[in-house]
Amino acid sequence: MFEGEFVNLRSVELSDLDAILENFNKLKLRKFLSRPIPFARDEEADWIRNTWVRRKQGNEYQFAIEHKDTKKFLGTAGLFGIDKISKTAELGIAIHAEKNWGKGYGTDTMRVLLMFGFNYLNLNRIQLRVFEFNERAIKTYKKVGFTQVGKHRQEHFTDGKYVDVIYMDILKSEWEKQVSS
Ligand SMILES: CC(C)(COP(=O)(O)OP(=O)(O)OC[C@H]1O[C@@H](n2cnc3c(N)ncnc32)[C@H](O)[C@@H]1OP(=O)(O)O)[C@@H](O)C(=O)NCCC(=O)NCCS
Repeated sequence: MFEGEFVNLRSVELSDLDAILENFNKLKLRKFLSRPIPFARDEEADWIRNTWVRRKQGNEYQFAIEHKDTKKFLGTAGLFGIDKISKTAELGIAIHAEKNWGKGYGTDTMRVLLMFGFNYLNLNRIQLRVFEFNERAIKTYKKVGFTQVGKHRQEHFTDGKYVDVIYMDILKSEWEKQVSS
């Protein structure tokens, strides 16, 4: 388990299913993710089992985010698409319940994930993609050291319109400078 200031990152368990299904299928959350269409309980269970398989293979590490004091499930976050030669990965994060947004959990989770990626997986670069309208996420990513490196115009179609997708990344050297300052 990896510990932040407010959150712990631990393995995702089948016992998280109820907590996941409470909010994960709400469009309010899903509109920020790549797939707005809801998942079935069995699909979620498959996804959880797959996180264990891909972890063993070493190409993806997904974590449940839990509140440090209450141990309540807050969401999931992880590194995927790991390229072991170029030492890169992509980051994804979702704090599920709207009531838990804006409380610092996302920033804390991002900091733990970056530490995990750079210090434990020996990655050199971590990237992410975010929809241009997701201002809260962009602010969070900038806060932990990501910079915008590109924008794919009208890459994603959702809610009747095309939206731009912003690409951001952080290098290990930049992260090291930030944590040592
Ligand atoms: C994006 C997400 C991970 C951020 O985590 P969080 O816990 O909500 O964010 P934090 O509280 O750590 O930080 C949010 C920052 O954005 C600011 N913020 C909050 N709402 C905002 C908004 N609507 N517009 C711009 N900034 C906003 C906050 O003030 C805070 O900055 P500050 O610390 O300088 O005041 C979380 O909101 C989430 O999971 N959202 C739904 C799913 C999602 O968007 N996932 C990312 C897909 S790329």
